[in-house]
Amino acid sequence: MRKQLFAIGLTLLTISFCFNYFLKTGFVFSTLMIILIIIGFYNTIQQKHAILRNFPVLGYFRYLFEKIVPEIQQYFIERTTDGKPFSRNQRSLVYQRAKNIDATSPFGTQLVLNQDSYEGIKHSIFPATVNEELPRVIVGGPACTQPYSASLLNISAMSFGSLSENAIVSLNKGAQKGNFYHNTGEGGLTEFHQNGADITWQIGTGYFGCRDDRGGFDGGKFAEKANLSAVKMIEIKLSQGAKPGHGGVLPASKNTEQIAKIRGLQPHTTILSPPCHSAFSDGKGLIEFITRLRQLSNGKPIGFKLCIGDTSEFENLCQEMIHQNCYPDFITVDGAEGGTGAAPLEFADGVGMPLEPALIFVNKTLIRLGIRDEIRVICSGKIISGYSILKAIALGADMCNSARGFMFSLGCIQALRCNNNECPTGVATQNKMLIKGLVVTDKSERVFHFHKNTLHAANELLAAAGKNSFAEVDINIFMRGDEFSNLADHYFPDNLTNVTKH
Ligand SMILES: Cc1cc2nc3c(=O)[nH]c(=O)nc-3n(C[C@H](O)[C@H](O)[C@H](O)COP(=O)(O)O)c2cc1C
Repeated sequence: MRKQLFAIGLTLLTISFCFNYFLKTGFVFSTLMIILIIIGFYNTIQQKHAILRNFPVLGYFRYLFEKIVPEIQQYFIERTTDGKPFSRNQRSLVYQRAKNIDATSPFGTQLVLNQDSYEGIKHSIFPATVNEELPRVIVGGPACTQPYSASLLNISAMSFGSLSENAIVSLNKGAQKGNFYHNTGEGGLTEFHQNGADITWQIGTGYFGCRDDRGGFDGGKFAEKANLSAVKMIEIKLSQGAKPGHGGVLPASKNTEQIAKIRGLQPHTTILSPPCHSAFSDGKGLIEFITRLRQLSNGKPIGFKLCIGDTSEFENLCQEMIHQNCYPDFITVDGAEGGTGAAPLEFADGVGMPLEPALIFVNKTLIRLGIRDEIRVICSGKIISGYSILKAIALGADMCNSARGFMFSLGCIQALRCNNNECPTGVATQNKMLIKGLVVTDKSERVFHFHKNTLHAANELLAAAGKNSFAEVDINIFMRGDEFSNLADHYFPDNLTNVTKH
């Protein structure tokens, strides 16, 4: 290929010189040829990229196409019902609700319903009246002296660093207008989170915002922030579904001077938070830490977030709660299908329990041990519609968080560039030029409307199931396609081929 390249290059160069000489044109062309030949020559001697050594100019097309694979996939290949992690239909639903425009769908479902994986709500012949009020849940067990009335749907943990300042401010202002909480993520509580919304302050293994000189937990710094009136709840992050057991990742490209200053780190370096906490190392220590945070925050709700892995560990943790007679006010269960700004693929694809079995397990374990009433169960993992909210409640959650749903409401197009600072919508980047595109006044309204319209849709489904409150919802209001085949077998054991015509 190299020989051909030089032969073609030299031929084109000669032709362009002829044009140049006889017709006084072709200067640009010959300059271009010279540049390409120099690049081509360089590539034949470089030793890093085999493709470019063998195809010194054409090889660049591979890199170009590799770079725009998500766009090609999304614009030319994806159908309305596929697209990952979220289908085009799911994304469009959020966009429409966020823009507060008609979110109905035309002509009928595009799903194939007659198959085992179909899931649906068993509606009632006698639907209830749709409640116009958006549902709320009180968080705070017996040891909590400042219980919090939370919305049924809230913004899940996403740090400033992972998201841009305009994204964080828009989320915060939208949450303030809609009266729901905004979880800071493990990057800590920053000025951008303080635009009037209720805050759940997340404490990760990096202890950003309450970190001592050696990177450990600093009780004094914690108390200062925890007692701010905007901070309504405190969440200890044990793990997150997209990378359980790994710890946070802030890529060097997103670790700007500003973020490094807020977190007390070295700028422009990749920051890997440790996978485990230094303030405790077992269930006993975690429960003692909860007691300590409760004291330091003067009785605000304290909980922890985890993705379920080894179920026996969770059961032991519950036993420890009973032993110490100390319960978290809430447990946030994150499904393995959860999102992230950056995670190793092995962790994203192959570690942790998905939300559905995890919720059933956590709910049943708490009930079995007689401690369900003490603790609120919050969940996250692809909650973006009224349907997903109702299902999560049916499986055992008391309330829900959404991360990527709210990202879509900010204009995220699922470009899959959260980890390289190139997010084209200015949501998950620290590139000032891209951030400018995200206008806070407009996007905060969209955050507000997405929340309101999604909860209204959940209220409508609740009414369709004939229920008046979310407390009445349980797993029995859902049906699955595989139940139909079992029922068919049950009632019609002789299949139709045995029927004789008369
Ligand atoms: C960009 C991004 C950043 C995130 N940062 C955090 C974080 O700092 N702490 C955390 O516990 N979870 C973090 N998560 C996980 C979400 O809070 C949530 O648990 C998960 O994405 C599941 O919700 P979803 O399916 O609605 O996105 C992040 C997710 C995304 C997409």
